[in-house]
Amino acid sequence: MTPPSPADQAADYLRTRAPFRPPVGIVLGSGLGGYAEQPPARVSFPYRNIPGFPPCSVEGHAGRLVFRDQFGTGVVLMQGRLHRYEGHSWETISRPIRILARLGVTTLILTCAAGGLGDTTPGDLLLIEDHLNLMGDNPLIGWTEGVPSGASRFLEMGEAYDRDLLSLAERVGRESALTLRRGVLAGMTGPSFETPAEAAMLHRLGAHAANMSVVPEVLVARACGLRVLGVAVITNRAGTRVHQTTAHQEVLARAEQSLPSVARLLDGLLAQLKLTR
Ligand code: HPA
Repeated sequence: MTPPSPADQAADYLRTRAPFRPPVGIVLGSGLGGYAEQPPARVSFPYRNIPGFPPCSVEGHAGRLVFRDQFGTGVVLMQGRLHRYEGHSWETISRPIRILARLGVTTLILTCAAGGLGDTTPGDLLLIEDHLNLMGDNPLIGWTEGVPSGASRFLEMGEAYDRDLLSLAERVGRESALTLRRGVLAGMTGPSFETPAEAAMLHRLGAHAANMSVVPEVLVARACGLRVLGVAVITNRAGTRVHQTTAHQEVLARAEQSLPSVARLLDGLLAQLKLTR
């Protein structure tokens, strides 16, 4: 018998301890972890205590999995994510998504900080409607373990970002007086930010924002059959000069400024998901 994979170990550990099987997962990006601190009361598991769950080392990412029942919807929140630029493998950075899928998550909301391109400017909230994978690799290469039975190796990506969730988010935005834009995300490995020429190139290629995390998560989530909504908080203009030592702090501070808007959007979505479940 093959030993359980790290993703299986983590899912087994959580299944026996989590208060419920959550249908909704939310990954909180840089500076947005505060959403998991808000009520209602919760049960949380530091990543380091979960066997098989990869550790999280970036500043601004707490490294906890939080379960809470919100407006009647069971939600698991990832307070902190893993990035390729930390030196983790593709398998490691996308393992949390596979763990969420094993826990019963069917709807995944990915939030992130991103650099704006063209007229996408700091403070904007961008609903991701498509992406350009410019990370030079694909986490699905060679992936066999845990692939849902019957799934094709050749993952169809014609509608990777769920149209119904996009429309729902826009409706919640209108009802909550939030200005939301739709756009294309360019997935970059980082950790260096873009040069001005790279930012201009990405914009010419059709991207509205650049980011270092969401694209591999979406690929793995789709391979696991999850429906995905992506929300990017624009924290800076990609390719413009910021002080070297404060770039990451600036991203965190700008994302934190947008937290109340993101929280309104997420609350509204969770309330509606309950109705449409
Ligand atoms: N580029 C890539 N990723 C980012 C940026 C950026 O300018 N800002 C926040 N995440």
